[in-house]
Amino acid sequence: MTKIVILTGAGISAESGLGTFRDEGGLWSQHKIENVATPDGFSRDPGLVHRFYSARRQQAAQAVPNAAHAALARLERDWPGDVVIVTQNVDGLHEAAGAHRVLHMHGTLSGALCANCQHRWTAPPEMTPDTTCPACGARTARPDVVWFGELPYHMDEILTHLEEADIFVSIGTSGQVYPAASFVQEARMQGAETIELNLEPSEISDAFTQRHYGPASEVVPQWVARLLPDPA
Ligand code: APR
Repeated sequence: MTKIVILTGAGISAESGLGTFRDEGGLWSQHKIENVATPDGFSRDPGLVHRFYSARRQQAAQAVPNAAHAALARLERDWPGDVVIVTQNVDGLHEAAGAHRVLHMHGTLSGALCANCQHRWTAPPEMTPDTTCPACGARTARPDVVWFGELPYHMDEILTHLEEADIFVSIGTSGQVYPAASFVQEARMQGAETIELNLEPSEISDAFTQRHYGPASEVVPQWVARLLPDPA
């Protein structure tokens, strides 16, 4: 059966009101990556990092999945083959739309991680440097997200999915961060059909055999409708 592996980035959640990183006015124009998205930044000023992620956690909690998230959840439900979503996003919008097979390679805003004992738990809405780990009691709680310089999660499983992919689709990502930006090449080497669905051409557009540009809430449902012509 045809296996579809889908990579998503911040662009799929833009129409749900969550900012992207590198577009005009994006998160990285408001905050320095080295201050809020690196282990050194966290060591230097954990309060700043907790405030940055608490704000994003609250925005994500109020965000609603858009038609693109819903279309992918429908595809997972109705496609006769395997569908796996690999997301760089830390918002829970794929699951909120009903998707189940979602690999969060950059972690999730809803997760907390203890830097002392590696215990994981559901993050409270507000975390501070005084937030204690429920397992070891140390004040070493951090957001369970992957920062620059850290290894993404689930890479072995992701690479296996890419080896098995018949169709690889990239949605809403600028293709500027590795290893996610290399996934299209991994898929092509296995002979997969490669499709880019994005607002505009990305850094890696040339690697795709099919490209459809426009808002995700339009181009993703249109693409899914071509695969699943019968109405849901
Ligand atoms: N519909 C579709 N695509 C969109 C939309 C939209 N409504 N709005 C923006 N985009 C596209 C932009 O054209 C851009 O190519 O989404 C992409 C967003 O790119 P980035 O802001 O770089 O986000 P992303 O690619 O997810 O970043 C990857 O970088 O900083 C790290 O950990 C962070 O996971 C993130 C990673």
